[in-house]
Amino acid sequence: MKTKVLDTLERPLRDLRISLTDRCNFRCRYCMPEEIFGPDYSFLSADKILSFDELERLTKIFVSLGVKKVRITGGEPLLRKDLPLLIERINNIEGVQDIAITTNGSMLKTYAEALYNAGLTRVTVSLDSLDDARFRQLNGNRGKVKRVLDGIQAAADAGLKVKVNMVVQKRKNEQDILPMAKYFKEKKHILRFIEYMDVGNSNGWKMEDVVSKKEILDRINAQMPLKPIDPNYTGEVATRFQYEDDQQEIGIISSVTDSFCANCSRARVSAEGKLYTCLFATKGFDLRKLLRTSDDDQVVTQKISDIWNHRTDRYSDERANHAPHKKSKVEMSHIGG
Ligand code: GTP
Ligand code: 5AD
Ligand code: SF4
Ligand code: SF4
Repeated sequence: MKTKVLDTLERPLRDLRISLTDRCNFRCRYCMPEEIFGPDYSFLSADKILSFDELERLTKIFVSLGVKKVRITGGEPLLRKDLPLLIERINNIEGVQDIAITTNGSMLKTYAEALYNAGLTRVTVSLDSLDDARFRQLNGNRGKVKRVLDGIQAAADAGLKVKVNMVVQKRKNEQDILPMAKYFKEKKHILRFIEYMDVGNSNGWKMEDVVSKKEILDRINAQMPLKPIDPNYTGEVATRFQYEDDQQEIGIISSVTDSFCANCSRARVSAEGKLYTCLFATKGFDLRKLLRTSDDDQVVTQKISDIWNHRTDRYSDERANHAPHKKSKVEMSHIGG
């Protein structure tokens, strides 16, 4: 039975973002800085992480409450063993209309075909620079740009649609905006520029490090004219644009200077099974305990429904009212962005 739930701002529950692991083979400074996520950092043990059975059960419950779109994130989701099997199981749930993964691309060459065969149709790859030195500076000296580009190529060759996410930071990689735009225009993959956000507590975010949507657009427009295009769906995170000459699309995700909480229909589940109703939440609800103590799906459904009904989150809309380094926000590596 389908029960549509609405929060206090009348926002439905449409998207489910599942983090499969808190581990990653990169150490991006804005997400898992090496000083904090070093060799002694204690990641979640296997027994604390939701199993594929639990994730399938939970996804079915979310679908019964209105979810249509599922995104698999991490940490790095490809570090989770047998990921294609989970994709297949989620893809087979009636009511799931769209499933995507967010990955750093470093292992995509190995898994692209298996993911496609499992029913995945699209993948989003994070890449912040095409310059090896800057790429490594940004991600804690891990890997090479070529490996990610090869992963993207392998995904496209396997039949997956590819989007690329670039987080833009002042003085760190703003010089990469144009080379990235040109490269992915030619490759015909949708590139999305993300304003650097104050997620988590460990990246030392400052407003002056943000390159705004307007600045990004001005830089590209000056060289490669763009025109705005309509959203694909209500609540789409990226504002879409097209190049005048070849219609290739790009997007800007402007959570800082032009927030989009009014239509936010996203629930996030961490690898350990905590439910967060905002990317900037300070506390999550322990669904794992509920799943492991009750066989009754109705009990879990009711709890999620209650939580969503009481949801008031609109952090980005209210950002100006928050203290800049409010402690104890959930880390990005726990809920995958
Ligand atoms: P599509 O399904 O392809 O439209 O992608 P998406 O809009 O779901 O975007 P994706 O998962 O690629 O998100 C890109 C980035 O946007 C994330 O990594 C976050 O940095 C940011 N983002 C996504 N959802 C939210 C949100 O609800 N709030 C905020 N503040 N940022 C978000
Ligand atoms: N601000 C904006 N985007 C971020 N991401 C990680 N941390 C931040 C941040 N502080 C992005 C990653 C990836 C996605 C999961 O979120 O680069 O594209
Ligand atoms: Fe890993 Fe993505 Fe976080 Fe970078 S942003 S450390 S690739 S999870
Ligand atoms: Fe949704 Fe929170 Fe992001 Fe606003 S800040 S769009 S409520 S996740």
